[in-house]
Amino acid sequence: MFNKIIIEKLLSLVLLAAALLPVCKAEAQTTNAADAHFYPGAVWPDNNGVHINAHGGGLLFQNGTYYWFGEHKIEGKKGNSAQVGIHCYSSKDLYHWKDEGIALKVSDDAKSDIARGSIMERPKVVFNQRTKKYVMWFHLELLGKGYSSALAGIATSDKVTGPYQYLKSFRANPGKMPFYPAGTPENETVNCGDTVSVANKFFCRDMSPGQMVRDMTVFVDDDGKAYHVFSSEENYTLQIAELNDDYTGCTGKFVRVYIGHQTEAPALFKRKGKYYMLGSGCTGWAPNAARWFTANSIWGPWTYHGNPCAGPGADLTFKGQSTYVLPVEGKKDAFIFMADMWKPNNAIDGRYLWLPITFIGDDIQISWLDKWDLHLFDR
Ligand code: GAL
Repeated sequence: MFNKIIIEKLLSLVLLAAALLPVCKAEAQTTNAADAHFYPGAVWPDNNGVHINAHGGGLLFQNGTYYWFGEHKIEGKKGNSAQVGIHCYSSKDLYHWKDEGIALKVSDDAKSDIARGSIMERPKVVFNQRTKKYVMWFHLELLGKGYSSALAGIATSDKVTGPYQYLKSFRANPGKMPFYPAGTPENETVNCGDTVSVANKFFCRDMSPGQMVRDMTVFVDDDGKAYHVFSSEENYTLQIAELNDDYTGCTGKFVRVYIGHQTEAPALFKRKGKYYMLGSGCTGWAPNAARWFTANSIWGPWTYHGNPCAGPGADLTFKGQSTYVLPVEGKKDAFIFMADMWKPNNAIDGRYLWLPITFIGDDIQISWLDKWDLHLFDR
């Protein structure tokens, strides 16, 4: 009897290990200079053989080159705060990355908004055609204030790789009410007399200082209009806000998306005129299930579609959290889901999980692959 229990226990452990295998196996892999593949979750050496240090990142394609901007993290738990700045890498093929150095440096002045030890997360860089400036947006938390500042930070540069000059930080759209697309149900309009709904409560509380900005991305549409997409209202609700012509501020027009459902890590893309948004739940550094939405207009209404991931590990986004979706240049319907596998106890060791998005009609699916390359999109 005792042996049977032990054997059953061992068997269930073996089955559990087999279920986790796709994710664990990848951890041991590395890429080398001659190798043109992605290894989700593996150490990813740059041109100097050093693991790429660009977490919570985003990409920009400019004049035949991809630029990857992300949080530079250092060892240990301290690495979760900004000790160095925003790191930039460049690549022609998406597999091999050249270290371009620190694009935006933290300041040694403890009174600066971007003082060493502040929190600078999820940087996204866009190019403004009108001003010819590169504009970096990031989630900023002031030194010593935990996550309570909830600001958008802006820096600009004339050169894509930097150095970026810090410009300003702000809360979003102070004093403004949301825009309501036609057909918005009554219960989704803001009612500051309602003290029951938490989402209304935080929205109305922040009307005067401006809405909170935490996990965020920036999306540039085909017509050159850009949008700031961010977790707001104590992370209860996403907001999508229109940027001004030079991309350094907001116009005051914004919508609230998936009110009260705590969506983080937004990433947007557009395919065949339809807007797609991926995001995560809200569990700090710990992974949770991804979620996706579509809309025919950036202003919504946005439809929630559940978890886009499939197969073993799908319920935890294969241990990752979305940060960006990259449209691959020169390939049709080729979009890469980019996520971070956070290592909060040793931040510098955070891994990158890039997986292809599969379309089934207008639906999307993301499945785990140990190893893949861009030829997958040619099939
Ligand atoms: C995550 C968020 C990260 C970081 C972290 C801090 O949910 O996506 O960007 O802010 O929380 O705990």
